Amino acid sequence: MTQDSALLQAPETDLRDGSNNRKVFIKTYGCQMNVYDSTRMSDALARDGYEPTENMEEADLVLLNTCHIREKAAEKVYSALGRLRDMKKERNREGREFMIGVAGCVAQAEGEEILRRVPAVDVVIGPQTYHRLPEALRKAKEGQRIVDTEYALEDKFEHLPIAESKKIRSRGVTSFLTVQEGCDKFCTFCVVPYTRGSEVSRPVSQIVEEAQKLVEGGVREITLLGQNVNAWHGVGANGQEWTLGDLLYRLAEIPGLARLRYTTSHPRDMDDRLIEAHRDLRALMPYLHLPVQAGSDRILKAMNRRHTAAEYLMLVERIRTARPDIALSGDFIVGFPGETDQDFEDTLRLVEEVRYAQAFSFKYSTRPGTPGAELKDQVPEEIKAKRLERLQALLLKQQQEFAGSCVGKTIELLLEKPGRMPGQLIGRSPWLQSVNVDAKELQIGDIINVRITGTGTNSLFAEIAEAEV
Ligand code: SAH
Ligand code: SF4
Ligand code: F3S
Repeated sequence: MTQDSALLQAPETDLRDGSNNRKVFIKTYGCQMNVYDSTRMSDALARDGYEPTENMEEADLVLLNTCHIREKAAEKVYSALGRLRDMKKERNREGREFMIGVAGCVAQAEGEEILRRVPAVDVVIGPQTYHRLPEALRKAKEGQRIVDTEYALEDKFEHLPIAESKKIRSRGVTSFLTVQEGCDKFCTFCVVPYTRGSEVSRPVSQIVEEAQKLVEGGVREITLLGQNVNAWHGVGANGQEWTLGDLLYRLAEIPGLARLRYTTSHPRDMDDRLIEAHRDLRALMPYLHLPVQAGSDRILKAMNRRHTAAEYLMLVERIRTARPDIALSGDFIVGFPGETDQDFEDTLRLVEEVRYAQAFSFKYSTRPGTPGAELKDQVPEEIKAKRLERLQALLLKQQQEFAGSCVGKTIELLLEKPGRMPGQLIGRSPWLQSVNVDAKELQIGDIINVRITGTGTNSLFAEIAEAEV
C-alpha cells in the first residue's frame, strides 16, 4: 500500500509523525519467550510506522510468532497460514496490500520449506534476527521473498528499541524480561536447542537498564525469562562472575520493583546462590517452575535430563528448607519411548512426594530431528492418553488442595486488571494464583493485604484485610 492510498482509506489518521498508518496483527503461539519477543517486534515495527491492532481484518501485516515444541503446535501454524493465504488473495483483488510474516520456532526449524508450502508468505524470520524484521519487510515490499534464519553475530537486543514509558504503562503492571536465550541441554525429546540455538546470556547492564525502564513505566512485577533461565551468567558490577541468584539480588535493589519471578529453570542449574536468593529476597516470589518431566530414572536417563528422581527430590527439599512457603510447579511428559507402566507409576509417586501447586503435562510428541524420534518402542497413543488422564487427575487434585490451603490466610496481592463485576479487581497471589477482590477504592498496581475467602475453578476469592502495604 502506498502512502496515498493509506490516506484515502483512513483520512482521520494523524500523520504528523510521518507514520504510514499501517497496522500489524501479531498472533503469538508457544511460550512466554515468544510473548516477550512479540512485544519487542511490535516496538521495532512501531518505529517503522506499524501500529498494533487486535483486529486481523484491518491489518496490513499479519505476523505469526510460532512454536515448534509439539506436532500440534506446528500444525496450527499451517492451518492459520491457509486462512491467511485466502485473505491475501481477497485483499489483492481489492488492490490492497497484505503481507504475511512467519517468525519464531517454526520459522527457524522449517525456513524455506514454509515458502514452498505456502508461497503467499512474504517473510520468514527466526528468533535470532528480529531486529532485521523491518528491513526484511521493506525488501519483501519490493517483491523479494525473505528467509532470515541465520544465527546473527550481532546482539539483536542492542538493535531493538525499548518502548517509551507511556507505551509500557499501557501494557500493565507486570512484564516479562528475557535474560537468557537458547539451550545446551539437548533433552532427547526437545526441539528448543535446534530452534533457539545455544545458550546466550544478556549482559547485566542491558538487563538492569531494561528493568529500570519498565519500572519507570509503572511495572511492579518482572518475570525474568529464559529457555534455561537459571543457566544465566554474566559479569557483575564488581567484575565477578554472577549467576542468576546474584542478578536477582541486584534487581531487587531497584526502587519501586516490588516483585520478581523467573522461568523456566532446569534442576541442574539450581545453584546455592539462587536458593539463598529465595531465602533472603522479599521481592522474589515464593513460586518456582521446576520441570522434572518424569519420575523414573531409566526414562530420565533416556531423556538426557542428567539427574535422577532422588536428586530432584533432594533439591526440592533444599529449596523448601530455604523458603518453606514456596509453591512448586512442573512440566511432565508421558509416553516417552520405552516408558513402561512401572516407569509411569514412578512419575505418579514423584508427584505424590513433591505436591505441586500447579503443573503442565503433555503426551510425548515425536519431533523430527531429535534423538527421541529415532528410538524404538514408541508408546501407542491410547496408552499415552490413559496415562495423561491419570496424571492430570492427580495434578488437578494437588492444585485444588493447594488452593484450598490458602483459604483463611492473609496474603499480599498485586492488583493487575479489572474484574468481571464493577468495583472488582483481579490480582495475583505470591503463588501466581488469580484472586478476585472487591476493591473500589484501590488501583491497578497497588499491593494490598487480602484474606482469602474461597476458591473458584481457576481462581481465588478474597476480601481486603487492611490498608495498602
Ligand atoms: N526449558 C524448559 C522447557 C521448555 S519446553 C525445561 O527445560 O524444562 C516446555 C515443556 O514442553 C517441556 O518442559 C516439556 O514438558 C514439554 N515438551 C517439550 N518437548 C516435548 C515433546 N516432544 N513432546 C511433549 N512435550 C514436550
Ligand atoms: Fe528443551 Fe531440555 Fe533445553 Fe528445556 S532443558 S529447552 S526441555 S532441551
Ligand atoms: Fe515453542 Fe519455541 Fe517456546 S518451540 S515453547 S516457542 S522456545
